[in-house]
Amino acid sequence: MRAADISHDITEVLYTAEEIHDKLEELAARVTVDYAEKNLLLVGVLKGAVMVMADFARMLPLEVQMDWMAVSSYGTGTRSSGVVQIRKDLDTDLHGRHVLIVEDIIDSGLTLSWLLENFASRGAESIEVLALLRKPEAMKVHVECRYVGFDIPNEFVIGYGLDYAERYRNLRDVAVLAPHVYS
Ligand code: PRP
Repeated sequence: MRAADISHDITEVLYTAEEIHDKLEELAARVTVDYAEKNLLLVGVLKGAVMVMADFARMLPLEVQMDWMAVSSYGTGTRSSGVVQIRKDLDTDLHGRHVLIVEDIIDSGLTLSWLLENFASRGAESIEVLALLRKPEAMKVHVECRYVGFDIPNEFVIGYGLDYAERYRNLRDVAVLAPHVYS
């Protein structure tokens, strides 16, 4: 589904599928250099990071492992609650591992801040973050993110994994949701 198909539900296309692909290629090139000698574990945060993980992981010419974590922070609304709850834990022992957390978006930063602390307590050797999108104006806590795709304005965005009430995740582009949809 392209943004044109839901043009009445969006106000603006922020990044097309092609622009997202090019940006992920850039990030993959950096990660490939940085982790050339390391046994990398990619941890995707469900569900939003599915698209980023699927595309990004296939751009890496490295042998990597992948695991998934599901936490909830938003519910079905448009604002972060700050309450983080584990819905699906990792299958992997993090002790001594080089972990790269793969996220679709950093909004308030609360989810990642919690995850970073949680992973550190499990004995990971290193923990870095890759996020396709980041909203600097929305951040409530500082989170170190080594690989950022795009810094975006503080607007509700959908597509490429990002949902509003579980809709629009399969949109190929990232777009700004029209206020009439959620107000
Ligand atoms: C989104 C996103 C991040 C988190 C970021 O997930 O994927 O995990 O919110 O928000 P924060 O920086 O304010 O904590 P969400 O909880 O909406 O779940 P989903 O990925 O299943 O859509």
